[in-house]
Amino acid sequence: MAKDNAPSSPSQQRMENIVSLAKRRGFVFPSSEIYGGLNGCWDYGPLGVELKRNVKDAWYESMVRHRDDIVPVDCAILMNRRVWQASGHEKCFTDPMVDCRECKRRFRADKVRMHYLVVDGKPVWHHAYEGDDPAGFDDISKSVRKSYDHLRNAHKADFDAGKATDLDCLVSQVPEGHARICPECGGELTEARLFNLMFKTFVGPAEDSAAMTYLRPETAQGIFVNFLSVLNSSRIKVPFGIAQIGKAFRNEITPRNFTFRTREFEQMEIEFFCKPGTDDQWYRHWVEVRKRWYLDLGMRPENVRFREHAPEELAHYARGCTDVEYKFPFGWGELEGIANRTDYDLRAHAEACGKDLSYFDDETKERFVPFVIEPSAGADRSTLAFLCDAYCEDEAPDEKGNPQPRTVLKFHPRLAPIKAAVFPLVRKDGMPEKAGAIYESLRKRMAAFYDDKGAVGRRYRRQDEAGTPFCITVDGQTMQDDTVTVRDRDAMTQQRVPAEGILRFLSDAMGL
Ligand code: GAP
Repeated sequence: MAKDNAPSSPSQQRMENIVSLAKRRGFVFPSSEIYGGLNGCWDYGPLGVELKRNVKDAWYESMVRHRDDIVPVDCAILMNRRVWQASGHEKCFTDPMVDCRECKRRFRADKVRMHYLVVDGKPVWHHAYEGDDPAGFDDISKSVRKSYDHLRNAHKADFDAGKATDLDCLVSQVPEGHARICPECGGELTEARLFNLMFKTFVGPAEDSAAMTYLRPETAQGIFVNFLSVLNSSRIKVPFGIAQIGKAFRNEITPRNFTFRTREFEQMEIEFFCKPGTDDQWYRHWVEVRKRWYLDLGMRPENVRFREHAPEELAHYARGCTDVEYKFPFGWGELEGIANRTDYDLRAHAEACGKDLSYFDDETKERFVPFVIEPSAGADRSTLAFLCDAYCEDEAPDEKGNPQPRTVLKFHPRLAPIKAAVFPLVRKDGMPEKAGAIYESLRKRMAAFYDDKGAVGRRYRRQDEAGTPFCITVDGQTMQDDTVTVRDRDAMTQQRVPAEGILRFLSDAMGL
């Protein structure tokens, strides 16, 4: 059964509202939109740049600046092709894909699921949908659900007698005799084939295979190939980590869900090198550190989970992996993977380049190839998760005190693109000058915004939509006693604060 144009579910509607707010308020725009866009690519607008920068800064502060055992690097996106041969990406960085013979759309075979209602071993109903887990079926359109419920009721006696069952499986695991259909048009799907995700490019004037390399699909390899240089140029000793924030590129088969799966994105990665035998303890350390980071930045605990991979899910070289997942309106999605990669990468590069990448411990006089724990997070996915988590629809009183619907982004103050907005109540009686002076003093210490246009209630609403924690209004009383009103975005309460103490007040209130 193909998808229909039935009204979207509440969670789809919520996602549509978030995407529309993001565009309307300048968080995220479709890339090259005036030319029809480019699938899988997005641009950040003024508020989005600030938000994503705050996410990256929060990561850098906690993971690099506040620790003695992590140092940063910033590597070139273009690297010698041999890096990608040694790391295994050239051969193995593939996704299985299926094509629709009718509409020609392409899907990841590990992301399309089929749901069957089977009676006496024969499918009597089927439906295809995109998603990672069977629970995704709960979110399909009402009319598909209705037809499923209808048939299920019609076969109630068969279910009671154990002759009817439900089957939900990946499209690549569909049993013999069951149709494999397109989730978009209902056409027939091909067998799964492997597709390499790296973007090819050419370095220099010749477009031949000698000049070919790839846009990096992860920042991690830049860290591994600089392991020796960092070790030789700094006094750092194992255990230690190298961190990097930077762009990565993957020719995803099905980029989707807004900025969740894109073809160009940013990663925040650490490769933490430790002595073999201590790897398990460091792996647990990093799972805890990364859990705390998301929760300390205000992510709602009910929307985040930490999923440890079963042994059969692990890459052949990995000893353990925990995914940090967020409950997006479109379902649970991975924000970060924390993996114990053993000594696989350093050994692979040592063998390929012929250099010794082992470590000599002067205290114990031992030589070993370090094991690596890798917390690898997506900057764009974390930014999207913080945006979804902050998004609220509630009510706020209008000028006459009547409740009106309001959209508000309840960001943690550290992540809020603007920390404080300053308004003169009216554009006369010295209020703009006073508000301007407060704004000038604040903007030197935090991201601040000045607005003197329109009714003050509307100015509050605009700041609520931008996620600004505090609005400061200069009014008639300010001109008499030098106090201002400070309005709290979440509680919507207002209090009077001496103008000269406003910076301290805001810093304390936001814990900045
Ligand atoms: N070095 C390990 C590595 O790259 P990964 O799980 O492929 O592991 C790490 O990627 C993180 O990068 C993911 O958890 C996700 O947050 C982000 N990421 C991966 N592919 C992405 C894509 N197509 N769009 C946006 N973010 C992506």
